[in-house]
Amino acid sequence: MAESIQTLSTKHLLGIKDLSVRDIELILETADTFKDVLNRPIKKVPSLRDITIANIFFENSTRTRLSFELAQKRLSADTVNFAASSSSVSKGETLIDTVNNILSMKVDMVVMRHPYPGAGVFLSKHVNAQIVNAGDGAHEHPTQALLDAFSIKEKYGEVRGRKIAIIGDILHSRVALSNILCLQKLGAEVMVCGPSTLIPKYIGTLGVKVEHNLLKALNWCDVANMLRIQLERQDIKYFPSLREYSMMYGLNKQILDSLDKEITIMHPGPINRGVEITSDVADSKQSIILDQVENGVAVRMAVLYLLANQRSL
Ligand code: CP
Repeated sequence: MAESIQTLSTKHLLGIKDLSVRDIELILETADTFKDVLNRPIKKVPSLRDITIANIFFENSTRTRLSFELAQKRLSADTVNFAASSSSVSKGETLIDTVNNILSMKVDMVVMRHPYPGAGVFLSKHVNAQIVNAGDGAHEHPTQALLDAFSIKEKYGEVRGRKIAIIGDILHSRVALSNILCLQKLGAEVMVCGPSTLIPKYIGTLGVKVEHNLLKALNWCDVANMLRIQLERQDIKYFPSLREYSMMYGLNKQILDSLDKEITIMHPGPINRGVEITSDVADSKQSIILDQVENGVAVRMAVLYLLANQRSL
């Protein structure tokens, strides 16, 4: 009997909200296999040697851009990289024209980061290519949520039943929304914690707990995912000063050591050391921040591989 090809239920990866529980489980299982590949002396498989992928970034990125590029190289895909700042976008070219020009050079898949929420959805309706959302404004960052779920599963065996506190600037965070959706689909309990000005009013409708006291959130959770204050997305002041924010919501070793249990510390990066988290916490044994980055390559390999499988159906 011929082996059936496992695929996702969606053609694109635009957000966690479009993925079924089975899609997420399939991505995490496939990432497990690719993590084994990445630990071999030859960290490469020929799976995507017939695929060309364009990475188009309209916003700065270190982890996501390099992680996608490495994932593509490990899968033997051909890749081209596009940074908006050095492109003809600065001469007034539209997003659709830009992408259609890239696609006319026989590109199959587009990985895009964009400052505007919904940019990936918009693009998917106007161009003939598979789109992967690498972060759209303060909306979604699906591969970050998937790699975070993978890292929690790796640490605890399963995500179901775990208590995850997402702490910091929830209002401007795409990581928060994607994490909430992904972790809930996998059966975790989720809490958000921060000053009320940085927690969106609608958050209760997502079924998360809301806490404004850092110590209470830390005492409740198994995992604390510390988020950066996104000053670049803030047009008004949401708290008096970074110093005061840090006094109320910054995680330091003294607070961590005062808890009556050992919790796991996560952060999607980039870290602002001394604001939301001190160096001794970020670099502590309880931190899995660099494991998250490592796992990102395997998870993105899984996403690209599974999306590419749909082309052969
Ligand atoms: N976590 C994350 O998206 O980091 P970058 O902005 O560096 O890609």
